Amino acid sequence: MNSFYITTPIYYVNDRGHVGHAYTTIACDILARFNKLQGKNVFFLTGTDEHGQKVEKASKDSNLKPQDFVDKMSQNFINLIPDLGCEIDDFIRTTEDRHKIAAQALWKKLYNNNQIYLSNYEGWYSIRDEAFFTENELIKNKENGDFIAPTGAPVEWVKEESYFFKLSEWQDQLILFYTNNPDSIKPKTRYNEVLSFIKSGLKDISISRTTFQWGIDVPNNEKHVMYVWIDALCNYLTSIGYPNENSDKFKKFWPATHIVGKDILRFHAVYWPAFLMAADLPPPKRIFAHGWWTNEGEKISKSLGNVINPYDIISEFGLDQFRFFLFREVPFGSDGDFSKNSIANRVNADLSNNFGNLIQRICSFINKNCNQVVENKFNLNKDDSILINFSIEKIKNYQILLNDQEIDKAIKEIFELLSATNIYVDKQAPWQLKKINIDRMNVVLSIATEMIKRSNFMLYPIIPTSCKKVFNLLNVNFNKLNFVNICILPDKLVVINISEPIFPRIDIND
Ligand code: MSP
Repeated sequence: MNSFYITTPIYYVNDRGHVGHAYTTIACDILARFNKLQGKNVFFLTGTDEHGQKVEKASKDSNLKPQDFVDKMSQNFINLIPDLGCEIDDFIRTTEDRHKIAAQALWKKLYNNNQIYLSNYEGWYSIRDEAFFTENELIKNKENGDFIAPTGAPVEWVKEESYFFKLSEWQDQLILFYTNNPDSIKPKTRYNEVLSFIKSGLKDISISRTTFQWGIDVPNNEKHVMYVWIDALCNYLTSIGYPNENSDKFKKFWPATHIVGKDILRFHAVYWPAFLMAADLPPPKRIFAHGWWTNEGEKISKSLGNVINPYDIISEFGLDQFRFFLFREVPFGSDGDFSKNSIANRVNADLSNNFGNLIQRICSFINKNCNQVVENKFNLNKDDSILINFSIEKIKNYQILLNDQEIDKAIKEIFELLSATNIYVDKQAPWQLKKINIDRMNVVLSIATEMIKRSNFMLYPIIPTSCKKVFNLLNVNFNKLNFVNICILPDKLVVINISEPIFPRIDIND
């Protein structure tokens, strides 16, 4: 119960990190930071998916040997992590030896458990999706009548000897597992989709290829390389020490919470738990499927030339502004549309006007009028108690929501507290109390500062760099805060000098 293992999908190295990758990684970072605040032992994994036909083709196109190509490209993803403000515990590359050992051990286990057999595959394959399709899943291209995958990717007819995994044997167990664990896939609509897909009937799946080389060798048959998805999914086990299932790390962290895009839910919610159960391992604790970002209404794609580079957005708007926008703007789980106008509007409304303004006016008032220190006399009136109780309720809701990966709803709770605090300050008007009742003024200032502190604590997983600055401003030792003591009123507040606004307004017409 006291550990939390969170993973991003591992990213294909043939691409550069874009907003979609940044989104998943930051989501995991938010959940990892939040769980650390809850006092949990957290393990946060990300990495790169370096095998398969798609990567092999991309390396040929850039005239590099596959290994040189993946060494070069994975570095982009490694560098991106701190630049997104993320703190990970491990970065896995599927070309590492530790991973080859784990993937081959998983294969052997499945083989020994009589879950794998050799046969022939004949059917449609999309290199771009690295996925097999049945004919009724395909769409006819209107222009030339060719079949294309549901994602729009071209497909080719593949006919080769292949190993198969007995997925069909797992249909009943999967239905049973999901019926007994209705929260193991989120959001609910995705859960329903997965369950009805499983109920519609599962066929055995091809799990090896013979027509290219760039993959992990199948044990005892080097003519075959493993299908990239069985190799890739295994990364979640490798990182915590598989095949050593008895290690402390493995026992402590498995099963994991996987955050994935909706496009790769089937691999994670159907194939992966079946592989795991077939290898005598528990299925994932939770799979959360998030939506996709479009760019000003258009699907993001290399061919349209509208890929959003996170570095461009960060340098124009700021790192925390980018992180905040991604999770405040769109319900986590739904699709979202990216535009510079919406970032500016979000940042201005919430961070500059609501939060930033509150900090600015309370801190500069204390600085100017109270010599930076406010003594709290604890003579609370009804308005004070209502706001304090409201904050306790918001903190509780926030925790429940984030434990369910409802990031946008959790942020809403924080902003309800901030809005209530702004209304409270307007009503109590400390600038007037200054002339008539200094004690009361001190109470109001302490409560307003306290609400800033509580909101800032909740905002920390989302915008950690800015929140550290705010804690600094309030002279609060963040490392000592937790979800219990955050609700205790301190008896003295020291506010250090405020210089520049922490969240400057963004001029949309720039
Ligand atoms: N390599 C596989 C995952 C293997 S995990 C065992 C893969 N890689 S990917 O690089 O193509 O995609 C990684 C993640 O990025 C997916 O979760 C995908 O949904 C996400 N996104 C890619 N483009 C996206 C958007 N435009 N918007 C949001 N997320 C998107 O699939």
